Amino acid sequence: MSSNPHLSPHKGKLLVLTPGMGAVATTFIAGVEAVRKGHALPFGSLSQMQTIRLGARSENRSPLIRDFLDLPPLEDLEFGGWDVFPDDAYEAAERAKVLQSSTLDPLKDFLHTVKPMAAAFDRQYVKRLDGPNVKKAANKKELAEALRDDIRKRLEETGASRAVMIWCGSTEIYLRPAACHESIEAFEKGLVENDPAISPSQLYAYAAIMEGVPYANGAPNLSADCTALEELAVERGVPIAGKDFKTGQTLMKTILAPGMKSRMIGIRGWYSTNILGNRDGEVLDDADSFKAKEVTKSGVLDTILQPEIYPDLYKDLCHVVKINYYPPRGDEKEGWDNIDIFGWLGYPMQIKVNFLCRDSILAAPIVLDLALFLDLAGRAGQKGIQEWLSFYFKSPHVQMGHVQEHDLFIQHFRLKNTLRVLGGEEPLTHLAENYDLSENAEVV
Ligand SMILES: NC(=O)c1ccc[n+]([C@@H]2O[C@H](COP(=O)([O-])OP(=O)(O)OC[C@H]3O[C@@H](n4cnc5c(N)ncnc54)[C@H](O)[C@@H]3O)[C@@H](O)[C@H]2O)c1
Repeated sequence: MSSNPHLSPHKGKLLVLTPGMGAVATTFIAGVEAVRKGHALPFGSLSQMQTIRLGARSENRSPLIRDFLDLPPLEDLEFGGWDVFPDDAYEAAERAKVLQSSTLDPLKDFLHTVKPMAAAFDRQYVKRLDGPNVKKAANKKELAEALRDDIRKRLEETGASRAVMIWCGSTEIYLRPAACHESIEAFEKGLVENDPAISPSQLYAYAAIMEGVPYANGAPNLSADCTALEELAVERGVPIAGKDFKTGQTLMKTILAPGMKSRMIGIRGWYSTNILGNRDGEVLDDADSFKAKEVTKSGVLDTILQPEIYPDLYKDLCHVVKINYYPPRGDEKEGWDNIDIFGWLGYPMQIKVNFLCRDSILAAPIVLDLALFLDLAGRAGQKGIQEWLSFYFKSPHVQMGHVQEHDLFIQHFRLKNTLRVLGGEEPLTHLAENYDLSENAEVV
């Protein structure tokens, strides 16, 4: 167990709040319950399944991350959420069609108990969506206060000692930071004046931070990614992270591109297209919502490949990303990548990737890890943007002036070293002093 004296111990229960109770959120909630009941294993979750090496290899200390750090066991998780539709977690999971009835039916009683609170929602920001379970208020300030009330009530109902919030709501339209995002005062004024530049996801982020609840954004919309909320998070001592869960095609991209670059293989073009038939796909069929997604998906290659340093290899790379809404596929997305590469003496080659993935199956363990690691960060006194959680995001939220890191392997290295430090251990450098060169010691 961790030896960090600054880490306050986990006590009581942790409430995981999800604005949005659609495919991702219900796959996460049902999955946690299935694991608790011993029906399945939490594949895809580092917090549950990965080990962490501590000290020199010869010390033979490689505990599970969840044993090394004082993380809440899954039994100590409680759930709460908001949605525009009144369906409880069972009904919403059935509708999302990610999990089969053989998985869901044994969890039915439990899932019926997780009912969505009324959403802070406005169609202006998600045009393809309309539902009845929506709050009414005079202005955005009142809506934010109602969300804060919801957080307190749900904490009381569940008896949880603290909460984290992970945005699992739809992708909102693409918004750029406006004047109301420049300071806490301007933002609070904007709330009272119903500034159209403040989207519903920002109301949730604001409510969470005001309540001391760590917040992560699983969608590409602006949300906490603005000066006002970043400052508020620092002021209130709350960790925040984002944006857009790294699943599917972008996950593949951030695995393959660093590999090509490490071998100095050139890339002339990368064409990515997807078919997707769930509600997320329907929302993304709207050009303004797709714009938000396109921006987070497109930035990935440039930062990994560094064309400014390697112009011969990556300058003028043609990168095209398409998402096509195709209802028969539901959540079982299919992605095609055509990658035009070149090697020795410029001779061309091609790579074709055909990824038949299940988006929410890849996203659910991310929600779990983010919930546990953000709670850990909060208990360790971390506040503001948590760049070490970049591993989980398509478009990592970073401090102003910092460059986003997209390389999955660098992100993973950083994540684990931060966990080591949070647990009171030395970070790993892979330098010689990490190895015990004595006879019989294994050297890697
Ligand atoms: N599925 C993935 O693997 C994946 C990967 C990366 C990012 N994301 C993002 O995660 C989010 C959730 O994905 P999903 O597949 O679960 O989508 P979904 O459409 O199944 O669920 C989203 C839910 O959010 C609700 N919602 C929208 N606005 C809301 C608001 N203001 N308040 C409360 N509820 C609101 C909708 O009614 C819907 O039920 C999307 O933004 C998606 O782009 C998903």
